[in-house]
Amino acid sequence: MREISALNDGWSFRAGFDPAAVAERLDGLQVADVSLPHNAVDLPFSYLDETSYQRAFTYQRLIAWDDRFADREVSVTFDGAMADAVVYLNGVEIARHSDGYTPFEARLTEHLQPGDNILTVRLDGSENAAIPPFGGAIDYLTYAGIYRDVWLQATAPVAIGRLKIATANELLDDKAVDVRVDLVNPRGLALDGVLTAVLGDGSGQEIARVCVPVAGDSTHLRFSGLKGLQLWDIDAPTLYSLTVELDGPAGADALTSSFGFRIARFTPEGFELNGRKLKLRGLNRHQSFPYVGYAMGRAAQERDAEILKRTLKVNLVRTSHYPQSPYFLDACDRLGLLVFEELPGWQHVGDEAWQARAIDTVRAMVTRDWNHPSIILWGVRINESADFHEFYAATNSVARALDPTRQTAGVRYMTDSEFLEDVYTMNDFILGNEELPGSNRARTPLRDQREVTGLRHPVPYMVTEFNGHMFPTKRGDHESRQAEHVMRHLLVLDAAYGDPTISGCIGWCFFDYNTHKDFGSGDRICHHGVTDMFREPKFAAYAYASQCEPADEIILKPVTYWARGERNIGGVLPLIVLTNCDEVELRYGSLTKRVGPDRETFPHLPHAPVIFDHRHFSPAELGVWGMRWLDGEIIGYLAGKEVARVRMVADPLPTTLEIAPDRLELEARGRDSVRVIVRARDQAGNILPFFTESIDVDVHGPARLIGPARVPLRGGTTGFWLETTGLPGPIRLTVACPHFEPHSIDLAAG
Ligand code: GAL
Repeated sequence: MREISALNDGWSFRAGFDPAAVAERLDGLQVADVSLPHNAVDLPFSYLDETSYQRAFTYQRLIAWDDRFADREVSVTFDGAMADAVVYLNGVEIARHSDGYTPFEARLTEHLQPGDNILTVRLDGSENAAIPPFGGAIDYLTYAGIYRDVWLQATAPVAIGRLKIATANELLDDKAVDVRVDLVNPRGLALDGVLTAVLGDGSGQEIARVCVPVAGDSTHLRFSGLKGLQLWDIDAPTLYSLTVELDGPAGADALTSSFGFRIARFTPEGFELNGRKLKLRGLNRHQSFPYVGYAMGRAAQERDAEILKRTLKVNLVRTSHYPQSPYFLDACDRLGLLVFEELPGWQHVGDEAWQARAIDTVRAMVTRDWNHPSIILWGVRINESADFHEFYAATNSVARALDPTRQTAGVRYMTDSEFLEDVYTMNDFILGNEELPGSNRARTPLRDQREVTGLRHPVPYMVTEFNGHMFPTKRGDHESRQAEHVMRHLLVLDAAYGDPTISGCIGWCFFDYNTHKDFGSGDRICHHGVTDMFREPKFAAYAYASQCEPADEIILKPVTYWARGERNIGGVLPLIVLTNCDEVELRYGSLTKRVGPDRETFPHLPHAPVIFDHRHFSPAELGVWGMRWLDGEIIGYLAGKEVARVRMVADPLPTTLEIAPDRLELEARGRDSVRVIVRARDQAGNILPFFTESIDVDVHGPARLIGPARVPLRGGTTGFWLETTGLPGPIRLTVACPHFEPHSIDLAAG
């Protein structure tokens, strides 16, 4: 059977690369011991120099000969390394990969020697114009480093390379599964033997098995008449496992993949999942983190998927603008979060060789990810690029040939573009255009799809970005700016809900991200997120969250800091309350007003916000908001019953420093990590938005802090990640902050 182990620890690393020394052990003062995932250059939170990592680096790992390698195929798989990699074993080049987002394998077999073997990687983080996405400007960063896991694998000389699982009869009780088993046979041996495929449920219980003889490089097998199996859906994402075992003259091997039964279909009348209409409500996700760029492992990837699903309550994520971590996609499968995955790129299309590489990346993306039930669409067009007939005819046909079960899409920002894909996807930034000098457009949240496509008939259509640069908003921004930020997200969501020909819309974006100097607020950050870089919600996050059903969670979020003088002129009206309650009461001094959702402004949203404004107060009542500022209460009702209450105090004082780790129990091994959010709260538990002190973080025990030990609160909160160092034991985290007693929390690595 195959043996596979993580090869993440024990690497040597240094900046620069010496081609004459690939067979020598790295040595000297500049050499650091590192483990993976690794970011080649530590970065500050903001005002970073994005040229600092655009150079060559050397990674090296010794691989000791192991008798178990004898007569077997031995390889190393890199899940992701940015941007251009050349791999050497004992001085001999064994692999090259010029894409920072897809995996690649280096075959060691023929070059392994007894004793230590030197695996050297030249990794060039330059924005090399020959490699997608480079060649033009890009509004995000491509951080150099071996930033995903690396695996050492030993298999029989003939092994299973990959499984392709396609389901059939999904909506019938008699379901079927078609499997293609691709063998790898680098020695060109005669192919023989038996393949046994075992279908299991989520707990690994066998449901059915099929045995077939090996039929060349690719063998097809089928399970049919499968009864009593469940669909994969967003509310019940049932997964099954498929393990294929090879028993052949060259030895035994096995490979497992999970999958689900579901039908996903974009139609001119909207999107359907398992035959039911589903309006897609999504956010775009980059894969970056503060300080370490792309180099965060499993736990952080999974947590992002959970935040999208459980906190922001979206049903779709777009992996803008490249294939993302397998851990993120696995989490989407388990959580029931739909995914639109796309090839790497940003507006620029290079020459023929560049295009050929992009086509290879489509191939690599589809073959890596075709078994994920969460993925419902392949993005086969460079984000926001112009029309390139031959190039895009090719990306489409490659994706369709590899995976006829999924539709293709291509994200544009221009109208009347050649429609080569199955789904027309558009970044519709029309809202706000009316403010441009010389514009005579009326304010429209979204365009009619025919205005965009230039086609007379409706086609499958989705809005893949909106807002973003049209209204950058920081977490600690002025309250009225945040209220407008909220309104703009709501207006587009409402328009998408109101137009049956729009399958859904995906906001720009999940969190703020570091970017090149040509974009963002000058601090090398695009403050475009509905959360900040620590994934801490801005008010706009609740525009999404409040669309969930109350049975899932009751949301009641007034868009205010509740201060008399924060807004221009003063007061808190109009007051937006983001909620899925059917009535909200505002209590202020002698005033009590109970109001329902604002269906006038938002006729289509599942849960329109409640907005207290001039419509609800008489001139005499408005006089109540006088010179003396009072506490306020917001109470949410469902069917006349109080279900939630938020109290806001008129004299907020720093009362509690909340330290909120996402979890307390960590894995000692595998560089597990946990996000910790720190919030300065007042006596009613509300965040103090303008509390600008710094915190000092101290960690004792087998964990280390990612990033600096002193960080300022921004908008009243901040965050950091802790990472385990390999040993089990208690971890004491202490956070000190002026105005608060130092505060400790106990975590454990086990
Ligand atoms: C889009 C682009 C995104 C991001 C966004 C900012 O045009 O596709 O990557 O730059 O603008 O709003």
